[in-house]
Amino acid sequence: MAEKEKVYAADAEAVRREGRSIVAANGMEIGIFYVDGRFYAYRNMCPHAGAPVCVGHVTDTRLPSQVYEYQVGLEGQVLRCPWHGWEFDLKNGRHLADESIRLRSFEVVEEEGRLYLTMGSNKKSLP
Ligand code: FES
Repeated sequence: MAEKEKVYAADAEAVRREGRSIVAANGMEIGIFYVDGRFYAYRNMCPHAGAPVCVGHVTDTRLPSQVYEYQVGLEGQVLRCPWHGWEFDLKNGRHLADESIRLRSFEVVEEEGRLYLTMGSNKKSLP
């Protein structure tokens, strides 16, 4: 089993204030989002064609409704990829239309105002 390590990622208050931060951790770009009082972290790479998905617009989605009715759901919880518009739920990383497609996620913990990600270790074991 791969070794896990806790990696410092960002100042918690800055992410709360801005709603999002793109950081570098373990050689990857990670998007950290603050949604409804919780932090979520995803690799900044869209599973469709590799776009920097975490810089996409954070928005909502349209719910099924009658003609001339516009019902909105998941307000402030949908990340839309900037290249082709795939949409992901920021609370679980799942594609809105196909739940088998997900963003790569990382656990985020806050300790004394600092955010840490739980990531696989880059350390190579000695022979
Ligand atoms: S690369 Fe994200 S939708 Fe195509």
